[in-house]
Amino acid sequence: MKKTILIITALFISQTALAQSALDEAFKTFSENGKLKFDAKRGQTLWTTKHPAKDGKDRQCTTCHGEDLTKNGKHATSGKTIKPMAASVNPERYTKMKEINKWFKRNCKWTVGRECTNQEKGDILKYLSQQ
Ligand code: HEC
Repeated sequence: MKKTILIITALFISQTALAQSALDEAFKTFSENGKLKFDAKRGQTLWTTKHPAKDGKDRQCTTCHGEDLTKNGKHATSGKTIKPMAASVNPERYTKMKEINKWFKRNCKWTVGRECTNQEKGDILKYLSQQ
């Protein structure tokens, strides 16, 4: 019993540390080593900004991730469920730098029509990681 509690505690601590280190790394990279400052309010605006697409429908980050960050989203083309973006309800969020980079790249291209700048990525991540 004691051993189980110990393992659970250790797992919890390592998970928290992991999340912290991926986020630290992301902010450091996006800030270009401290040159850029990030703002969650700006991030929130970017997250909900509508971008006109060729098919005539507007695209936003919320198109797939949904309006409520604490709830599941739904992929606009595949219909697959996307787990909540809020780290407060989904502790797996923002724990791997590779995932953060991969999805920023793919989703900015699809939504905005280009890759996001470091400033935009940092602002958005600041907003998302505080939810
Ligand atoms: C076409 C659907 C779609 C749109 C639109 C979309 N995303 Fe995503 N996003 C996904 C999918 C799918 C994943 C990967 C599955 C997951 O992490 O649950 C993901 C994951 C992410 C992640 C990784 C989070 C992590 O756990 O590390 C970030 C960051 C992200 N998206 C940012 C954005 C931003 C910023 C926008 C708007 C510019 C956006 N997304 C718009 C589908 C989308």
